Parts: sequence; structure tokens; C-alpha cells
Amino acid sequence: MAKKPNQKQEVGTTGHEWDGIEELNNPLPRWWLWTFYACIVFAVIYSLAYPAWPGIKGASAGFLGWSTRGDVAAEIAAHEAKLGPINEKLASAELTEIVNDPELQGYAVSAGSAVFKTWCAQCHGSGAAGAKGYPNLLDDDWLWGGDIEAIHQTISYGVRSEDSDDTRYSQMPAFGRDELLEPTQINQVVNFVMSLSGDPLDAAQAAEGAVVFEENCAACHAEDGTGDIYQGAPNLTDAIWLYGGDFDTIKETVTNARFGVMPNWDARLSEAQIRAVATYVHQLGGGE
Ligand code: HEC
Ligand code: HEC
Repeated sequence: MAKKPNQKQEVGTTGHEWDGIEELNNPLPRWWLWTFYACIVFAVIYSLAYPAWPGIKGASAGFLGWSTRGDVAAEIAAHEAKLGPINEKLASAELTEIVNDPELQGYAVSAGSAVFKTWCAQCHGSGAAGAKGYPNLLDDDWLWGGDIEAIHQTISYGVRSEDSDDTRYSQMPAFGRDELLEPTQINQVVNFVMSLSGDPLDAAQAAEGAVVFEENCAACHAEDGTGDIYQGAPNLTDAIWLYGGDFDTIKETVTNARFGVMPNWDARLSEAQIRAVATYVHQLGGGE
């Protein structure tokens, strides 16, 4: 209490008063004030150096030219520079020799697995087991051939891809829609196809269907129904179905045909990436 009047005289009050309690007008501590000024100076310099001030087309760039995008680009460039030599080696190696070079093979499989997850999994499944209309790449059943060269070609140019002149192409006729076969003939041949890998719905019809098959289907699916990789015509005897092996699904296939499209990747992926993913697919288990 004794001190208060002195202080009040020395520094004065702010004029604020509550119930007789007055607020003294003490100056801010020096250390605090200078820290405060230093912060302001720092903030101004920082906001000029780095992206900060919002504008109509985005923030000011900052005189250091730094950006998170730039950081990522530099990291990618460094990564690519590191992988340059092995990618070059992969792109120029004989396809059939990749498997004999453990270092190259190991690199191709891990890089290929990453490519697969990014570009192929949405159709073929993340584990490559496929789905209706999208072939399983794990088994040894190939529409277009399963050696490394055939796989490489399929991936590079695709199947029935509009964007590639070198794409693999074939087209099964729509026997029902285009009235190439009578409905009874279709029922017969569907029964025959079912009999190739299991039991037909109707054995008598299946016997009739053998003739229909011979005349209309054997040119592509072969006389014995084992298919033809040069036309991408599936093997119909192995009970592995791209679209399905029940009566209704086969009938749908024969009536309206199918037109499976696989994109060509030569425009979107580098040669090294295509070879990596071809090697990856080849070693999944079904590669010839
Ligand atoms: C848009 C869907 C789609 C994407 C994406 C896709 N594929 Fe395919 N792929 C298909 C279809 C459909 C077929 C079957 C074409 C046919 O009916 O002959 C196929 C066929 C294949 C075949 C031939 C299989 C065989 O039995 O001969 C291979 C190999 C293949 N794809 C690999 C890949 C790889 C590797 C990628 C990624 C780089 C990829 N696919 C991306 C749809 C796709
Ligand atoms: C010009 C060649 C060609 C002819 C002729 C042809 N097919 Fe096909 N067939 C194909 C092709 C190619 C596919 C694969 C279609 C796709 O993936 O888009 C196919 C697919 C199929 C499938 C689907 C198999 C599965 O795994 O789901 C069945 C079933 C089939 N054909 C039956 C027949 C029958 C029956 C006939 C005769 C009435 C016939 N095909 C005539 C080329 C042919």
C-alpha cells in the first residue's frame, strides 16, 4: 500500500478504474518489446521470401522461388537420375534375357508391380486375378499368348484399341443379333460348348451343336474347341471362362458377341515401364 502512490506518480495511470482499482501505465518490458518488433520484421521478410500473399491467381511466389511442387519435382528428378542406367538397360535388353539377369529381373518385377497397381489393377484386379471380361493373369490360360514377347506386345499395343494401329484385333460375329444362326441352332451350339468342359443342359442338342460348331466356330476356336492365340479366341474346353460358362452367359456371348478392349500403353508408359510390367505379369505364375 505504501508503494502504490509512488508508482502511480511515477508512471501515471491509464485512466481505467474498477471499484477503486486503477490500472497503472507501466511501459512494456524492453525484452518483450524488442522480441515483438523482431517478430514483425521476421514475418515481413518471410512473407516476401516464401509463397504467402493471396492473390487472384494464387499466392505470391516469394523471392526464393521455393514451392512444395518444386521440391517434389526435384525429388522425382533425383530418383529418375538414379534409376536412369538400369531403366536404359531394361529398355534395351533382349526380352527373353531379362529373366537370366537377376539384378534386372528383380528390378523389373518390383518396378512392374508398382506400374501394375497404378495402371492395370482397376481392370485386372490388384492381385491380377481379373474379373468378368477381364482376364485372370495368374493362370496359364492365355488369349493372346503367354510368353514374354506376346505379353509385351499385348501391353504395348493393346487389344481392339482404337488408339493403336498395331493393336491385336479380331471380332467374333454376333450370331444371333445379325441372324447368322437360327435360335434353335444357337441353343444347340451353346449346349455343345458346355459339353466341351462339362455337362450340357441337353445332350441331344449338344450332338446337333457339334455340326453347327464345326461350320461356324471352328475357324477361330479350332476344331477341338481349344482356341487360337493368333485370333485371341479363347479355349472353350478348359472350364476357364472370360465371360462365364453357364447356359445363359454363353448364349449371350454367341447371340451378341463380345468386344473386350484393352488399352495400348505404348503412348502412356515408357519402354522400360512396359518391359517392367510385362516381366511382372510373366512371373506371376502363368508365364510360358
Ligand atoms: C480398361 C481395362 C484394362 C486395363 C486398364 C488394362 N487391361 Fe489388360 N486387358 C483388358 C481386357 C478387356 C483384356 C482382354 C481382351 C480380350 O478380350 O482379348 C485384357 C488383356 C490383357 C492381357 C492378355 C491376357 C491374355 O490372356 O492373353 C494382358 C497380358 C494384359 N491385359 C495386361 C495388362 C497390363 C499389364 C495392364 C496395365 C499396364 C493392363 N492390362 C491394363 C482390360 C484392361
Ligand atoms: C472370327 C472368330 C470367331 C468366331 C467365328 C467365333 N468366335 Fe467365339 N470368340 C472369338 C473371340 C475373339 C472371343 C473373345 C471375345 C472377347 O474377348 O471380346 C470369343 C469368345 C467366345 C466365347 C466366350 C468364352 C469365355 O471364356 O467366356 C464363347 C463361349 C464363344 N466365343 C463361342 C463361340 C461359338 C459357339 C461360336 C460359333 C457359333 C464362335 N464363338 C465363333 C472369336 C470367334
